[in-house]
Amino acid sequence: MEVLIVKAGPYLKGTVQIAGAKNSALKLMAACLLVEGTSRLENVPRITDVEIMAELLSAMGVEISHNLNTMTLTTPCELKPEVPYELMQRMRASIVVLGPLLGRSLQAKVSMPGGDDFGHRPIDIHLNALRSLGAEITTTHGYIQAKAKKLIGAKVILDYPSHTATENVLMAAVLARGTTVIENAAKEPEVQDLAEFLTQMGAHIAGAGTSRIEVEGVDNLCPAMHSAIPDRVETATFLAALGLAGGKLLIKGTRADHMDILLEKLAAMGITLTVTKNDILAEFEEQGSLQPVDVHSLPYPGIATDYMPFLVTMLSVAKGISLASENLFPGRFRYIDELIRMGANIRLEGHHIAIKGVDCLSAARVRAPDLRGGAALVLAGLTAQGETTVEDIFHIDRGYEYFDKKLAMLGADVQRIKR
Ligand code: EPU
Repeated sequence: MEVLIVKAGPYLKGTVQIAGAKNSALKLMAACLLVEGTSRLENVPRITDVEIMAELLSAMGVEISHNLNTMTLTTPCELKPEVPYELMQRMRASIVVLGPLLGRSLQAKVSMPGGDDFGHRPIDIHLNALRSLGAEITTTHGYIQAKAKKLIGAKVILDYPSHTATENVLMAAVLARGTTVIENAAKEPEVQDLAEFLTQMGAHIAGAGTSRIEVEGVDNLCPAMHSAIPDRVETATFLAALGLAGGKLLIKGTRADHMDILLEKLAAMGITLTVTKNDILAEFEEQGSLQPVDVHSLPYPGIATDYMPFLVTMLSVAKGISLASENLFPGRFRYIDELIRMGANIRLEGHHIAIKGVDCLSAARVRAPDLRGGAALVLAGLTAQGETTVEDIFHIDRGYEYFDKKLAMLGADVQRIKR
């Protein structure tokens, strides 16, 4: 078992290069199912979730090579349109192959994802949206079986702007006959990135990035090239590291315009930010002087649920009381119990969180409960007195490329060791 040992230490200083977005790369990879031939993706992060998606696509017949951050995917004429339980249970995001499989093969058999690190995670919005395009979908023996004689464009109204449900229906709609209008669509930058890749392939899409996406189905798509957008959650992670450890960081290759509200909150907490087109210079010299703010997660462009563990960790050492609420995943709180074990003064009421900043956290042995919660505990260690041990770091490796190495290069005292 590998663990991360973290000690509070010097200020962070230096330059960090942001990787491609996990939540873009996974969907770009799935989109390659839509076309026969070789597509190329750039800026694909070297993380476990990408490896799992590659395994899954290979099992369907796609040939994949991943050199540095470039991935080539060669999709055959005939696919095996199936995702077995073993792969689905390793990564919930595998559900995003359902839409492209239906679009391309008019059939799919995909294991139901079930719950995950955040608890209950339904997929009703995905299935209802695909049914609106004419797919017949049954769920038996733990599998979703979907088929259609033809997918027909339709008005699809999502009950909630689900990020991956929007992507699933978008990928099915590009090869459907006629016009599809997705109402109440998710507006996340990753949805827009996917739409850009599909457009490169020859799809006709308007409105991606807004709550109304219109798709004019085409008969065929062709292979294409695309570079994944930078990971906004990784950017947020390094900004939070700075807020906890203090120092000065140049965050390179990011998109500040994808995280406006977060940057406003961080500025209100006392971090000085200078934004240029692809970089953020962040300064926070007075460690321990973070100001309290209230934060509530919302679908994009609101504060992302993925930022909440970092914000709550920062607020746990802020100079006063903050209120937070997690409005997307009410089960995403297990990191809070670990923060409390490190001395944080946090009270949880339903999905609301009251945080009274303490002067200092105290190091403890903690367990990463999920990807973002795990990263937040490492960041907590940057400011805690003593030596923090973070276990179950496979969660962190799912979504961060060289997380501990990047932190160490900025001067953090973080070591990965085998236990
Ligand atoms: N929901 C339903 N029914 C559905 C789908 C969603 O009720 O059919 C509910 C969920 O239970 C949740 C809310 O809608 O309460 C939001 O879920 P959404 O579908 O938008 O999330 P997701 O698509 O499953 C993606 C990211 C998450 C990120 C969320 C929110 C990927 C692979 N995952 O999940 O990223 O937190 O959007 O932006 O894109 C992560 O990177 O660690 C991660 C969890």
